[in-house]
Amino acid sequence: MNGPRTWYDVWQRKGERFVASGRVVPGRVELAALSGYDSRTSALDLGEFDRQRDHIVTSLRIGATDTVYEVGCGAGALLHALEPRCAGVGGSDYAPALVDVARRVLDSGDVEVLEASDVNPRPRYDVVVSNGVFLYFPDAEYARDVVALMAAKARRAVGVFDVNDLARREEHQRARRAAYGVQEAVGGLRQLYLDRAFFTALAADLGLRCVIRDSVMTGSVNGRYRYNVVMSRRGGSSRT
Ligand SMILES: C[S@@+](CC[C@H](N)C(=O)[O-])C[C@H]1O[C@@H](n2cnc3c(N)ncnc32)[C@H](O)[C@@H]1O
Repeated sequence: MNGPRTWYDVWQRKGERFVASGRVVPGRVELAALSGYDSRTSALDLGEFDRQRDHIVTSLRIGATDTVYEVGCGAGALLHALEPRCAGVGGSDYAPALVDVARRVLDSGDVEVLEASDVNPRPRYDVVVSNGVFLYFPDAEYARDVVALMAAKARRAVGVFDVNDLARREEHQRARRAAYGVQEAVGGLRQLYLDRAFFTALAADLGLRCVIRDSVMTGSVNGRYRYNVVMSRRGGSSRT
């Protein structure tokens, strides 16, 4: 079998392999793996995954009455972890095989196959989040369009988590070469890196407050080179 040529292939194949296994609903570890949290440079244990979930809940002040939508929800690992803590979730992803799994896992009627740049601003949700997705986008222009859509869809706050830090690209790539070998890390698929100033300028354009923090997933190689962005409507209540 040929190797994946695009990130889309990587994600779609993950979902197809799960569906082909004949299993109907993934367990918690399998679900995290379907979201890529089993790679050599993420190497997450579930404790680390829970820390990320708790950081997302706290930094966006997600409460029992909030609805939460995720752009790039994959098989639903994050949304599944958020579902018991909020009033309802929805999400979309461009990989149909992963959306298939998310529909089995989540208690939601709003899970769609969609490119992030095609997300519909309606219906609105209180909080719109994207976790570990922006690094797969083709360029900053695409990322800008997606943030604008997320802001239009969000009543209160937008969260973009696990963004590759442009200021630390060389260090990160060295770490990836050490983990994967030169061929796989360099000849493999490209990831997108974004400057923190990209988000602060964008938030200002959109009239949103913006807080950027280093990743809390310090147990993973990738996490050391990534950051999280929280944007909130002025007068809203997003904890930093
Ligand atoms: C690391 S996984 C994270 C999944 C989920 N956000 C979570 O935290 O459980 C990245 C996801 O982004 C999705 N993705 C990447 N690029 C996308 C795009 N342009 N539009 C929609 N989904 C995309 C992939 O299909 C994959 O499910």
